[in-house]
Amino acid sequence: MNPLEIREGIYWVGAIDWEERDFHDFNIDRGTTYNAYLIVDEKIALVDAVKHKFLGEMVERIRKIVDPSQIDYIIVNHVETDHSGGLADIRRVAKDATIICTKRGMDGISKHFDTEGWDFRVVKTGDELNIGKKTLMFLEMTMLHWPDSMATYVKEDKLLLSNDAFGQHIASEERFDEEIGIEEALNRAKIYYANILMPFGNLIQKKLKEVESLGIPIEMIAPSHGVIWKNPKRILQAYSRWAEFKPENKAVVIYDTMWKSTEKLARAIAEGIASAGVNVRLFHLRKDPWSTIMTEILDAGGIAIGSPTVHNTIFPPVAGFLIYMRGLKPRNKIGMAFGSYGWGGGAVKEINRTFEELKFDVVEPIEVRFRPTGEELERAFEAGKEMGERIKRA
Ligand code: FEO
Repeated sequence: MNPLEIREGIYWVGAIDWEERDFHDFNIDRGTTYNAYLIVDEKIALVDAVKHKFLGEMVERIRKIVDPSQIDYIIVNHVETDHSGGLADIRRVAKDATIICTKRGMDGISKHFDTEGWDFRVVKTGDELNIGKKTLMFLEMTMLHWPDSMATYVKEDKLLLSNDAFGQHIASEERFDEEIGIEEALNRAKIYYANILMPFGNLIQKKLKEVESLGIPIEMIAPSHGVIWKNPKRILQAYSRWAEFKPENKAVVIYDTMWKSTEKLARAIAEGIASAGVNVRLFHLRKDPWSTIMTEILDAGGIAIGSPTVHNTIFPPVAGFLIYMRGLKPRNKIGMAFGSYGWGGGAVKEINRTFEELKFDVVEPIEVRFRPTGEELERAFEAGKEMGERIKRA
């Protein structure tokens, strides 16, 4: 329960959640952390907090540095309850603390808690708060990933407390990117980006430009989940790349199957894609975590999705995945639907509808009755090969 000083007078006082595996349907196979930071100066500021069940742990860490009742400011960068769940209880300890948040943050907090008698200070981009030797500057991060989101920048330390942005879901005793390895940190950040921030690529590009135009030097980024970036350029570059949806030489084949007919098509398509010299990953929707699949989709040039038809419509696990994918709005993809049916089709039409909604470049689907013949499997292979060729040309 020890705090960790990450910059002079700035401490990590968060909690490590080793057990959580399901973050509202996002598979987090290595758990997560809830990072809260305590800034001790002439005034004391707590930046973000933890999930309610870890509140005692956070308060204990704070107590090793200062008396928690002495906290002057509680900065709520984001209202989602993995960070603010314990807010009412913290405020019971730090009775005189002023809550600092965006206008939408105040609205959200008021919807979650009885805030009667709470002292708020609403901030917007560029507003500053002097707490002694340190100056905190606030930066609205609207829709990254909630309307209320903001970041707090500590000017003297060139430190960006970015909340959810640049986070990763990984529970570890290590607190810094270099300690778990930068590549591992980037891999974890990519999973997180693909499943939380993917829909906001345009906003992210704009925000990165805005931060650049503000001319604020950033030496360290401390997010609210996962490890702290001592190498901020690496994660900033990665975000810029991911936000562009620049496709790599890669395709993803995703399917579910009842009697293995759709599976046979999936394998033939995957083989065809690979024969064109394009990397391919094959996923079964009831065996592979959707969050892993979405991570591969992020930078894939092509996506083939297959489903059997059941009761004249799409197989439910595939329907569920399409909804998940639709919400995350991948872009710049070639899409191919495939599947088998017995007496009336339906699944392929549903898949194509989603591709069209997402403005994918839709190619001719592969649909077979009952079981694919050798000739039909050959056709699936050729369709995969053609998709591979198109990915290479894109
Ligand atoms: Fe980590 Fe949007 O909460």
